[in-house]
Amino acid sequence: MLILSACTGVQSPLAPAGDQASALHMLLIVMTVVCGLVYLLVMGGLVWALMRARSRRRKDEGRAEKRVDRALHVAAGVIVVGLTILITASFFADRALFATRGQDAMAVRVTGHQWWWRIEYRDPASGRWIETANELHLPLGRTTRVELTSGDVIHSFWVPNVSGKIDMIPGRRNLLDLTPRRTGWFRGACTEFCGAQHAHMAFDVKVEAPADFDLWLKTQAAPAASGAPVTGRGAQLFATKCAACHRIRGTSATGRAGPDLTHIAARRSIAAGTLPMTRGALQGWIAQPQALKPGTSMPAVPLLPADADALAAYLARLR
Ligand code: CUA
Repeated sequence: MLILSACTGVQSPLAPAGDQASALHMLLIVMTVVCGLVYLLVMGGLVWALMRARSRRRKDEGRAEKRVDRALHVAAGVIVVGLTILITASFFADRALFATRGQDAMAVRVTGHQWWWRIEYRDPASGRWIETANELHLPLGRTTRVELTSGDVIHSFWVPNVSGKIDMIPGRRNLLDLTPRRTGWFRGACTEFCGAQHAHMAFDVKVEAPADFDLWLKTQAAPAASGAPVTGRGAQLFATKCAACHRIRGTSATGRAGPDLTHIAARRSIAAGTLPMTRGALQGWIAQPQALKPGTSMPAVPLLPADADALAAYLARLR
């Protein structure tokens, strides 16, 4: 039951929700079947040889040797056929992964940082880049070409339900095409050990209808000022305590060291998939980031209770 429960997960290559993941899933099935058959054959041969050694009689020597010869021929044949099937399946899976490479795709840049994800979309209308963090939205049935790199050490990008994984290397640009075929929430993760909080370097992935996606992108492109009040105690506190590292477009906060927080309240989680996006979690994260994610670049921000409340309330309005 526990094994089967993994088949329907939001972070599982066994429940493909995209073209590339389906190709890899098929390859996985072929490999499991072929390798399983080879395993059974080897084990069967071993048992047969052991039994034969026990009951061997000198007078049958000639006939027995002929039988061994025949068995070896069959085994060699099965191995050649098995390898041919594996090579063919691998070839076609590889072709499927790159089938969209020549086509027009939506451009997204993802940069890995210890331990969060900078995500940028190219606005098809204006051509400028729209920044967000730790949440990837994908339009259903369209191909998104993700350009991956890293700002510090080697990370690896993997959304198992949608595609295979690929490394994010400083100074290099790796490309990965994602063509999702099922709407819903999925989870992506870093799959290359990158330091103390490697396990807390995840992100949410939402596959949605193209119209919903276009609306989301339009909202993301807008500055915070258009949707939420950017004045008040919380906004003032942000400008003095947080603006050196975080940006909120439409305000004086222009820091680039940490995640862009322009529409943080519209996200599903905070701190790279570590905590749910709620006002309480925000307040806890601001007060004690080192307790929740030891080693993170985010320093604790000492605040009076009323100020902590005002700051969290301000961020929770940035939808
Ligand atoms: Cu980033 Cu592991």
